[in-house]
Amino acid sequence: MRVAFVGKGGSGKTTLSALFARHLASAGLPVLAVDADINQHLGMTLGLEGETPPPMGGHLADVKEYFRGDNPRISSAAAMVKTTPPGRGSRLVRPCGDDPIHTRFTRATAEGVRLMVTGPFSEADLGVACYHSKIGAVEIYLNHLVDEGGEYVVVDMTAGADAFASGLFTRFDLTVLVAEPTRQGVSVYRQYAEYAADYDVAIAVVGNKVQNPTDLAFLRENVGDDLLIHLDHSPAVRAMEQGRAFTMDDLEPTNRSALETVRSAVDARPKDWGRFGRQTVEFHIRNARAWANLATGEDLVAQIDPEFTFGPADLCTSGATTL
Ligand SMILES: Nc1ncnc2c1ncn2[C@@H]1O[C@H](COP(=O)(O)OP(=O)(O)O)[C@@H](O)[C@H]1O
Ligand SMILES: [Mg+2]
Repeated sequence: MRVAFVGKGGSGKTTLSALFARHLASAGLPVLAVDADINQHLGMTLGLEGETPPPMGGHLADVKEYFRGDNPRISSAAAMVKTTPPGRGSRLVRPCGDDPIHTRFTRATAEGVRLMVTGPFSEADLGVACYHSKIGAVEIYLNHLVDEGGEYVVVDMTAGADAFASGLFTRFDLTVLVAEPTRQGVSVYRQYAEYAADYDVAIAVVGNKVQNPTDLAFLRENVGDDLLIHLDHSPAVRAMEQGRAFTMDDLEPTNRSALETVRSAVDARPKDWGRFGRQTVEFHIRNARAWANLATGEDLVAQIDPEFTFGPADLCTSGATTL
């Protein structure tokens, strides 16, 4: 299952992504956390000791070369753009698999969360339909990922325009919108909800840093039924931010229980590979016509393999063992 955490800067996307991933890992569940935010802080919030993994966004050519495998419709890594869909011959991966992508681009924390990072990017990387865009690495990864219930990919994302410029925002089973009880917090929610509604994207709002009943009432009033749950302002999180030792046992019971509610919401989502496949193709066609054909000098719509079915049936187990 794939979960994105989006929201206004400072709302708590990184904090909640990390706490959610740690919560799952503490239940013994396989979880990959992906840092796709502008500011790369997820590793720290996950308590990763030692080196962060090499940034996927800095090795796009290798990533593309691996995933394209021997798919005859993709002429070269250079002709593979972030929306290029997998087809027969493409390599697919499982979350936390022992394939070259996970081996090279992830590191595990002491609690067992695996971390993958895009690498830092500047505002200049955002919004532009640039096929070198680093966040494109995450989209390529998610397009070639075959995941099932009981295993989790948690993505700490920006709510910025880049996710909408491509198909990235449609790659998740659930998008958690983190909202502080402020007008700005809920205005990002409204924006996101509008886009999401057009694409059948499931969103749940998780309130954050709630301090009193007035805060909660504000969220209820502005978010309505989309409000799944909230986390209170957490002294334990603040202590962690101040550099004090932190384990999940330190998190307040109400906040811990909120994370469990998020998990239930994720688990309740049906895996819809049909929608996933349709949207992959739809965004690829749009991207190809808007800029990618011109940029690559090829008709990239021809990369779509009509015989390919998305989902577990097509998991390709053969392929290179090195990258
Ligand atoms: N529930 C919470 N309780 C206390 N502090 C929080 C909580 N959630 C987030 N914070 C703090 O708010 C700040 C911004 O959070 P962060 O996760 O970095 O936001 P974002 O990733 O959305 O920019 C951080 O200092 C973080 O520790
Ligand atoms: Mg962040």
